[in-house]
Amino acid sequence: MYHQTIVKPNSEEVAIAATEWLIETIRESIAARGSCSIALSGGSTPKRLYQLIAENETKSLDWTLVTLIMGDERNVPHEHVDSNFRMVKEAWLDRLDPIASPNSVPHVLPVTIHVKAPERAAAEYEKLLKDTLSASNQNADDETPEIDIVLLGLGDDAHTASLFPETEALNESHRLFVANFVPKFSAYRLTLTAPMINAARNIAFLVCGPSKRPAVDVVLHGPRHPDEYPAQLIEPKLGRLWWFLDSAAATEVLK
Ligand code: 6PG
Repeated sequence: MYHQTIVKPNSEEVAIAATEWLIETIRESIAARGSCSIALSGGSTPKRLYQLIAENETKSLDWTLVTLIMGDERNVPHEHVDSNFRMVKEAWLDRLDPIASPNSVPHVLPVTIHVKAPERAAAEYEKLLKDTLSASNQNADDETPEIDIVLLGLGDDAHTASLFPETEALNESHRLFVANFVPKFSAYRLTLTAPMINAARNIAFLVCGPSKRPAVDVVLHGPRHPDEYPAQLIEPKLGRLWWFLDSAAATEVLK
């Protein structure tokens, strides 16, 4: 498996390096297939990356060839302060000028939320992902469509996307996007499943801060207990895996 770790001195440098990598990887996808799909993550480092794109990268490529999907979402309306889509809008999309630069605006697929029916919201989004991604996949019969790029964060508890320790979604082997009840929040989250993430062509973790170091350590070096440390489920089938870390999050072995 292709696996590369990039360690930078601080979170700003991580966001800059991840932005450069992202632009390069989008260009590669467009050159190979004419389009690029990106699953977005919530969290603080990805947020900075979205801001950097809005500030510096709107002319770097034809963003109309890019489709943004939500890697995970909270079960709240889009206006809610916890909504990942709201964060992406504020950090990136609302700052674009579609009139002056129409090519700076990507295609965006937010999750249509039904607060009282998260399972329905997940099933509808799964269908939307299948329809959208199989249109750009060469092998349309493939059961699991391939996302070009998946961005991920890592929680202190080693969750990633909304795959939390000891939750149902960790056992999922067929579904692509599910509603996952998270007991510690007494709430549902909506999330890509591990098989869907693992089918991606490129996966990048963006992880910063000293509180993440034990999680980074156990995810990369074991012992292996994916029920307890869900990010251990992320092992791309054929794709490439990157870890962007700041030195506070990186274990000694990685520095
Ligand atoms: C979310 C995420 C989640 C996040 C991690 C890390 O919706 O919150 O997608 O998986 O990436 O909790 O978040 P930070 O980078 O803010 O620590």
